[in-house]
Amino acid sequence: AAPLPPYSHELAWPEGLEPFKVVDDGSQGDPYEHYRWMRENAPVLRCQSATSDVWFLSRYEDVYAAVRNPKLFSSEVVSPPPLTFLTLFDSPGHSRLRKVVQPSFMPLSLEPFVDQITARAESLLDAMIAKGGGDVVEDYAIPLSIATISTMIDVPNEDEEKMKFWSDETFSYFGRLARNAPGTGTDEQSAMDFFAYLKEAMERLHKSGSPSIGGHIARMWKDGLLSEKEAKELCAFVFIAGHDTTTILVANAFRMLTEQPGLVARLRDNPADIDRFVEEVARYRGTVQRVSRMTTEETVVSGVTLPKGATVRLLLSAANRDSARFPDGETFDIDRDTSGHLGFGNGVHKCLGMPLAKLETLISVKLLVNKLDGMAFDPARPIKYVRGNNLTNSGPENLHVIM
Ligand code: HEM
Repeated sequence: AAPLPPYSHELAWPEGLEPFKVVDDGSQGDPYEHYRWMRENAPVLRCQSATSDVWFLSRYEDVYAAVRNPKLFSSEVVSPPPLTFLTLFDSPGHSRLRKVVQPSFMPLSLEPFVDQITARAESLLDAMIAKGGGDVVEDYAIPLSIATISTMIDVPNEDEEKMKFWSDETFSYFGRLARNAPGTGTDEQSAMDFFAYLKEAMERLHKSGSPSIGGHIARMWKDGLLSEKEAKELCAFVFIAGHDTTTILVANAFRMLTEQPGLVARLRDNPADIDRFVEEVARYRGTVQRVSRMTTEETVVSGVTLPKGATVRLLLSAANRDSARFPDGETFDIDRDTSGHLGFGNGVHKCLGMPLAKLETLISVKLLVNKLDGMAFDPARPIKYVRGNNLTNSGPENLHVIM
């Protein structure tokens, strides 16, 4: 095969499609058109600027092979990892930390929380119905996912807002550490406040023997399997990894329900199909668009040579629509076989919170299809696609519906 053009700026992007941006500043809108073009024309796309040099992989086969090969595609893109965020570690550090936290994520341990999540979801939805509609993101998905993750960690409801603020600031602080970028220091202060709050919370959760994820991490700390720093940062990571991602999945599920004629009725009459629906949303309109890796050796991908030490972004969302893996991949179809989709990653870093995220979305969809006949997008307020402060997770920033 002819060698593929590796540099973004050398490519003739089709008319109407601006060159793909390394940093999504919100101006690219829905990214799927770029992904399609990249899969077909530049499956290994190098984007260079004065400050960055990044390789994007978009075909399923390549992305899958990379997430399954952590020795060649390392997660330690910043070495050593500045904070104890699981996704930033290679083994043996990664397998030790993952083994310690994994038991609290098992699907069975979610059972006690189903009623609480359902009650919260129902009251948020009823409030929206009572006022004849609203913004699904602001009025429903954000408060639901914050409440759920707070319940899973076992922090009081009244602290949810504060936790959300700290968590967003900590994510920005981490981004700054990773880029070695100077900052104002306010995000650092917020991260320290967050960690101090979590330490105090874990002391309390340990005393009360809380069965939550927070209680479990606290026990691991007190038993000497985690240091205090690791325990606080892991708890923060769970909060960060768990709320924005789920907000977007829930919002995208709403979106697909309103876009696909007949789906509400089908799911209401056949609740057993809701599982398939949620899985197809995770494939077709996933949350985590991409994950980052660094090559540990020179390697060839789709005919292009990547040097050792290359910064690579694996476009999970592009891979998920690759028709070579999912026939007619650009079509939303709840009857398709979605197995192997990469919406929650794959390999050693596969998402630990997947059962929780799916449960939350499943509960939401069950309620929706029973309560929301006649729901429609508000034509006066179009969807703004990309969310602001997080460059990896992209989804609708608002989703106004009327009923
Ligand atoms: C890892 C997606 C919700 C906790 C990941 C990864 C993806 C992902 C793609 C792999 C990262 C990589 O390979 O570098 C999602 C999506 C979610 C979601 C799409 C919701 C729709 C959650 C929730 C939690 C969570 C609710 C916690 C309660 C984690 C953890 C990891 C992870 C702890 C790290 C696993 C590891 O590195 O070993 N997630 N996630 N996630 N996720 Fe999620």
